[in-house]
Amino acid sequence: MILGIETSCDDTAAALITQDGTCLAHKKASQIDVHKAWGGIVPNLAAREHTNLLPPLIEQLFDDAGGAVQDLKAVAATCGPGLIGSLLVGATFGKAVAMGLNIPFLSINHLEAHGLVPLYKTNLTFPYLLLLISGGHTQFFLMRDLEDYHLLGETLDDALGEAFDKVARLLGLGYPGGPALEECAQTGNPQAFSLPAPLKGRPDCNFSFSGLKTAMAQLVTRHKDALADPSSSCQADMAASFQATIGTVLEDRLKYAVTLARKRAPTLAHLVISGGVAANQNLRNRLHKAAQQNSMKLTVPPAEWCTDNGLMVAWAGLMRYKTGRVPALKDALAFEPRARWPLARITQEKEVMS
Ligand code: KG4
Ligand code: ZN
Repeated sequence: MILGIETSCDDTAAALITQDGTCLAHKKASQIDVHKAWGGIVPNLAAREHTNLLPPLIEQLFDDAGGAVQDLKAVAATCGPGLIGSLLVGATFGKAVAMGLNIPFLSINHLEAHGLVPLYKTNLTFPYLLLLISGGHTQFFLMRDLEDYHLLGETLDDALGEAFDKVARLLGLGYPGGPALEECAQTGNPQAFSLPAPLKGRPDCNFSFSGLKTAMAQLVTRHKDALADPSSSCQADMAASFQATIGTVLEDRLKYAVTLARKRAPTLAHLVISGGVAANQNLRNRLHKAAQQNSMKLTVPPAEWCTDNGLMVAWAGLMRYKTGRVPALKDALAFEPRARWPLARITQEKEVMS
């Protein structure tokens, strides 16, 4: 078995996977109640919570799987990017287990784990176009092969999940914002408000969400009274209009991403979306159609593998393990968690080594 540990942000998660890719058990402990009171994630509280939550979660994981720690062949843990205090908890725990058992330790890049989990239990193969939409990142990658990732475009300001969280907060929807906004939007009219679709029509596949966020803030100020009236549909209409605009932006950016990606991989036929925002059903539906319009097939992991989870780390670890990408334990233990660790750096570092 391979143990995967994820503690890069505010989710404490772990999973056990067998060498043939069967997930034996996975667990996630939420810290929502701790951070809710502050309206967002408080880094030092997140680290403290991971320290408290991880040991019992791992114990429960082995109970659920019916396995013993001695059955482990390797330990994989997220080592970046993320909140450094949070990363240190999972990485140090994982290193200690690997050291105690004298088995390999695999430092996993969180973005790579999001980007590889769509390969888990699907027919998907490289190359594919990845749209990574999470709380910290919004990027298009051409995923050519394991460790061969080419950045095509990214956000120039906020990440998409961050935009969802901030707009949800403006609308008084609380934390975590993304799922709350999606739920609220269900009863709203997506055409009620006309909003700017940033960078629409620009011939690249970058993103920008700060102007849209400002437009939402102005809208909220203008419609203060209607928003305070529980009988008004204003809140739901604003949520639906925001979500619809995001859909329009993603469709538009996708067109250019496909063109750029096909210059490097002419036979490209698969679009993959991953990261927390990919759990949004409305956006999944829109991207499904948009993929077809670009002669692509969409693959999206089930929602539980889109938001942060332990399985994606165990799976990324397994892919490395099976392809012999296993550093000596001494070197692996010396690898320091990184708050910043761009996905493209993995490819750059590999190119330098070879
Ligand atoms: O991938 P993730 O769990 O953590 C990071 O790596 O950042 O993504 C978290 C982000 C949050 O901003 C959250 O609001 C957003 O994903 N999110 C959603 C939905 N579920 C989670 N955004 C929109 N709709 C959702 N259903
Ligand atoms: Zn994530």
